[in-house]
Amino acid sequence: MTDTNEAITVTFAVTGETLPWTGEHATLLELARAHDIDISSGCEYGDCATCLTDLISGEVEYLHAIGATPDPGTCLPCSCRPKSSVSLGA
Ligand code: FES
Repeated sequence: MTDTNEAITVTFAVTGETLPWTGEHATLLELARAHDIDISSGCEYGDCATCLTDLISGEVEYLHAIGATPDPGTCLPCSCRPKSSVSLGA
């Protein structure tokens, strides 16, 4: 056990669901899909911004360099995972 194992949760505003981030899914988009939460997607590599979603609170980290630049307060769920507990506007 290390200090970095604090429980991270992901809240989806549309459904009101708060889910644990277990690391089972590579990205926030995969987690959403696994729970039938609809987020539109296109390239799924951070380039098209089709999946752009409000990041209401918390921090995310990107898995690779992304071509699109999400505005502050938004994120690209296809290419990121939570760095802290997050609340998404999806
Ligand atoms: S689906 Fe293209 S940036 Fe996320």
